[in-house]
Amino acid sequence: MKPVVADNKPIAVMLEAGKEYHFCRCGRSRNQPFCDGSHQGTGFTPLAFTPAESGEAYLCQCKQTRTAPYCDGSHHKVPPEMVGKEFSL
Ligand code: FES
Repeated sequence: MKPVVADNKPIAVMLEAGKEYHFCRCGRSRNQPFCDGSHQGTGFTPLAFTPAESGEAYLCQCKQTRTAPYCDGSHHKVPPEMVGKEFSL
């Protein structure tokens, strides 16, 4: 199963140092970029991460990044018509 492209751009979020977050890797969460449990049955699991610094971060929504949970620019390679659909580069 492929991840769903939640959007073809990253989302800016404020993160708190030392707090654990669960990044959605399946693309099916309605609470992007975080997991809401919608991955059940997809084979995907969320990515737990704890930022070292507080502040704004750009998290991946296209689910193609190689530096999850952070955007690496891969969304530029995702065709706009694939938003909301399963896709992998
Ligand atoms: S909802 Fe996508 S990983 Fe949990």
